[in-house]
Amino acid sequence: MHPLFICLIPLTSKGGLSIVFNFAWVNMSKIKALKGFKDLIPGESEHWEVVADMVRDTFKAFGFSPIRTPILERTTLFTRSIGETTDIVEKEMYTFDDWDKKPVTLRPEGTASVVRAFLEHRHLMPLLPVKLYYQGPMFRHERPQAGRLRQFHQVGAEILGDIDPKQDIELLSLLTHFFDRIGLQDLTLEINSLGCTVCRPPYRKALQQYFKTSLENLCKDCNRRFHHNPLRILDCKKETCKTITKNAPSSSAHLCEACELHFKSVRQGLDDLKIPYQHTKHLVRGLDYYTKTAFEMTTQNLGAQNAVAAGGRYDGLVEALGGPSTPAIGFALGMERLMQLLPEQPHLASNLKLFIAPLGENAYQKLFPILYALRKKNCRSEIGHPGAALKKQMKTADRLQAEYVLIAGDQELSAQKLVLRNMSTKKQTEIGFSNLLDTLFSEIFK
Ligand code: HAM
Repeated sequence: MHPLFICLIPLTSKGGLSIVFNFAWVNMSKIKALKGFKDLIPGESEHWEVVADMVRDTFKAFGFSPIRTPILERTTLFTRSIGETTDIVEKEMYTFDDWDKKPVTLRPEGTASVVRAFLEHRHLMPLLPVKLYYQGPMFRHERPQAGRLRQFHQVGAEILGDIDPKQDIELLSLLTHFFDRIGLQDLTLEINSLGCTVCRPPYRKALQQYFKTSLENLCKDCNRRFHHNPLRILDCKKETCKTITKNAPSSSAHLCEACELHFKSVRQGLDDLKIPYQHTKHLVRGLDYYTKTAFEMTTQNLGAQNAVAAGGRYDGLVEALGGPSTPAIGFALGMERLMQLLPEQPHLASNLKLFIAPLGENAYQKLFPILYALRKKNCRSEIGHPGAALKKQMKTADRLQAEYVLIAGDQELSAQKLVLRNMSTKKQTEIGFSNLLDTLFSEIFK
């Protein structure tokens, strides 16, 4: 809505009319969050915290250490890592000039930043392989829709410094175990091998050979991809392109001996751990740094945005960013998509154990130290306003979904008969003030 001009026309004391223009800009529209950017508010945020806690202890159990990298990085970090001709770099990055006129970008993903940090602090991470995990917001200017935001959150894990397929298995076992632990079902682990610098060029040629005769029927984007990145044609979501792609050659049929052996070992390792997977022969990734193993964790329950997590090897990235040859592998999962799939867990949002309803200032002053003592023991409790009537305080307790309410005014305090009400059974019991804390600990916060 446009700002509103207000024009004031006051009468002068002499009765004449003096026209004074007082322009006040009154902005009539409320400021809202940007399209594709979302607030996380109570009711939902508690669930996020539970998942974040599970991430922490599961990833730590698998030997990963936390890393936090800045949200803003030099633009070249991403153009060089993700690839100049990827959708992310071509049209989705939030890039602007910093005060020194050099372009900076809000990170669209976490891997490039982790590699940069690894190179910057390599001397502090002497033990290879280095195993790191992170959680945080990422930014991509995509068309917002269900499961696709412009600011979204990823949990990622990266293992740097080991080419052995054992690392692929370790990482995939973390990913599958994590989803099992949080109770996500109906997920499919899809894997493929994209080859390396030896076998990728002949595979690209084989793809170009295959698509050459269908260029007229491929979409405009795929026509561009044909020249600089024919693998990406395999990922096109347009129906006509998908039909043409069906019989395209697969990367796994073009692997060199080393890649073939690597892929075989990864599949064998998954079989040994009884981790189910599917070999999807046309699985490719939207970022250019991948080599060898590539994978996605997909679901049928998210509509078009069916990948909850994705990743793969990126054996050449550290070197491409100016470091020594350091093979690596990682994945990232999308928190918003994961949360969408999680079954409702209403108890998480309503775990206020105790609401204290003080009737008057004196009761408040006596009960506030009790509240403080409970909170110091991590017992979730709340107190009402001493000026509010009991009825109003009970309404507040109800709204906060408190399990118990402790009611006390001057009368109850001097009679040593405070009232403890169980909000679900409606049963009320009397408790004394002198041993109040002990009673609360033994009755409620057991
Ligand atoms: P990615 O496939 O671009 O890979 O993203 C990983 C996951 O982030 C996706 O599977 C999806 O769940 C989530 N995601 C991506 N874009 C959006 C969006 N616009 N809105 C909501 N969720 C989204 C990477 O980012 C790589 N860095 C993964 C990796 C780590 N590879 C190696 N190490």
